[in-house]
Amino acid sequence: MRIILSGAGGAMGLTTASTVKNHPEHVIVAGVDKFADPSRFDFPVYDSFDKVTEDADCIIDFSVKAALKGILGYAVKKGVPAVLCTTGYDSDDLKAVNEAASSVPLLMSGNMSVGVNTLVSLVKEAAKALTGADIEIIEQHHHNKADAPSGTAKMLLNAAKQVRPELTPVYGREGMVGKRKPEEIGVHAVRGGTIVGKHEVMFVMNNEIVTLKHEAESKAVFSEGALRAASFLINSPAGLYSMSDVLK
Ligand SMILES: NC(=O)c1ccc[n+]([C@@H]2O[C@H](COP(=O)([O-])OP(=O)(O)OC[C@H]3O[C@@H](n4cnc5c(N)ncnc54)[C@H](O)[C@@H]3O)[C@@H](O)[C@H]2O)c1
Repeated sequence: MRIILSGAGGAMGLTTASTVKNHPEHVIVAGVDKFADPSRFDFPVYDSFDKVTEDADCIIDFSVKAALKGILGYAVKKGVPAVLCTTGYDSDDLKAVNEAASSVPLLMSGNMSVGVNTLVSLVKEAAKALTGADIEIIEQHHHNKADAPSGTAKMLLNAAKQVRPELTPVYGREGMVGKRKPEEIGVHAVRGGTIVGKHEVMFVMNNEIVTLKHEAESKAVFSEGALRAASFLINSPAGLYSMSDVLK
């Protein structure tokens, strides 16, 4: 698969470029990054999609929301599918993505890890099977992470709420909080050191506990997931897909 890597010079762009080297069936034909130094790469890197001349099968994007317009414009004009891994899109961005998806295959996910997306499905299954269990979500990340709880913790929360709509999140607990209510779902954020990302969902019942857990040991899991998504997308008709479609 011939790939255009958007956000090539960022942490995830560099990780994805090195991940692609482990897959002889894939090649990065061009990168796009507004601020990266093109001399650092072994493929051409442009500061805008308008300058890309190479033919490609798919775009993989790990950049910033400001890059979205250029990506969608190129994808629609050239009929090239795009895997949108960037987070933080607003409602206007999502509208633009939906419009573009009527003419080209697009995939968007706040977490590209195959493991995390499997965890989301397992949480739904467990919430169905373990009716009435007290559910608590615990996420752990490195000390540079700015937001809490993580986007992935929110995905897990939404998965549980799909099965039990009455669940109401309680973010951390402090002081005289009183007896736990059955509709509570606790969400807790741990921050420290270099933890790439850990997520645990506990289903606590009388005298037994089921814990579902995912641990990301390297950013490469997101790149591997993006490659898997791209392989799925190039064989799919126009539309907006998520990682759950890839894993079906
Ligand atoms: N979906 C997932 O699984 C997943 C996983 C990790 C990171 N992310 C997301 O991917 C994005 C990138 O993460 P990162 O850690 O690599 O960030 P980063 O800040 O290291 O890299 C962003 C890159 O985008 C480039 N850039 C800035 N403006 C641009 C523009 N207008 N056009 C093109 N490129 C531009 C920057 O120069 C930089 O090289 C973030 O939104 C992050 O949340 C998603």
